Amino acid sequence: MTDASAQEKDYYDRVTQADVTPLWKLPPMPAEPRPSIVPYLWRWDTVVPLIDEAGRMDQTLNTGGERRALILANPGIQRPLFGTTPSISAAIQMIKPGETANAHRHSAVAIRFILRGSGATTVVEGERVIMEEGDLVLTPQMTWHDHTNPKAQNIYWLDALDVPLTMYLNAYFHEPYYENVQPVIVPENYTANRLGKGLLRNVYNPPEERALSLIYKWKDTYDALLGVTEEDISPFDGAYFEYTNPLDGGHTLPGMSCFIQRLRPGEQTSAHRHTTSTVYHAYRGQGTTIINGERMDWRTGDTFALPSWAWHEHANGSDSEEAVLFSVSDLPVLENLDLYREEDRL
Ligand SMILES: [Fe+2]
Ligand SMILES: [Fe+2]
Repeated sequence: MTDASAQEKDYYDRVTQADVTPLWKLPPMPAEPRPSIVPYLWRWDTVVPLIDEAGRMDQTLNTGGERRALILANPGIQRPLFGTTPSISAAIQMIKPGETANAHRHSAVAIRFILRGSGATTVVEGERVIMEEGDLVLTPQMTWHDHTNPKAQNIYWLDALDVPLTMYLNAYFHEPYYENVQPVIVPENYTANRLGKGLLRNVYNPPEERALSLIYKWKDTYDALLGVTEEDISPFDGAYFEYTNPLDGGHTLPGMSCFIQRLRPGEQTSAHRHTTSTVYHAYRGQGTTIINGERMDWRTGDTFALPSWAWHEHANGSDSEEAVLFSVSDLPVLENLDLYREEDRL
């Protein structure tokens, strides 16, 4: 070994011991985002039979209503870490008749989009909401929530939480309630009524500043989609709505925002890309999303992940039926950090 290489080795040994990393040894910084996740599609026909099987094997697998969920684990993320995108973990969850998912709360925000089955209830901070297909239910940060299925059929929903982001920031808290379920302490529609269904505000007893709509009913969502006129149709997303905070018109939740879009029969959108990572769920119809040249052929019940900065375009695969995509992304986080960028080829 020459004097110079011995000196170099000695230097890097001492650098390692000092727990520092020489920037000059790292690869050059990428010119644009290099997503850690890959475009990926999870089929309803694959996931739901597995969740049903878990439901039949509760004794063996130690599952129950609270934790019977299969997380859609993006193959780009090294296990045991999990996430459908870098910031969001989505799962298909199933609750059987007569079951309860015990009350708890956590610092990650959560949403549920109801896929199949109606009539189960969620209690959020003492208020009960009834969940029907197509409804979006929110459980904001540190709100107590529990779910009960009093019906005779299983209920399935898409569950999404910003757990990966919250964990990454070392800000995750989780607390069980001291009983299985919390008492219902306010009348039905308590929050919706104080929020005047998002259009009015109770003056005498206004909703708290952080009050959020707990539930967005499918009928209202679908009416909005159908009410869109030609000039309001996005070239990239068709008829496209965000579920907003009724108090300030802002995003659905601080860590995630939810969207719904309708593609008319035969509709084909133009390609664009943006720095949000998105989980899509095909709620109705069938079609194709091309992500960086890769085809995702989806039909009702399938879920797929769109990485940041990936070109994507959607097409309704039917000439006679509509297609509806529900999605959830990390847009509020990107915007707050001034990291949101968008580009198109129009
Ligand atoms: Fe939860
Ligand atoms: Fe997009």
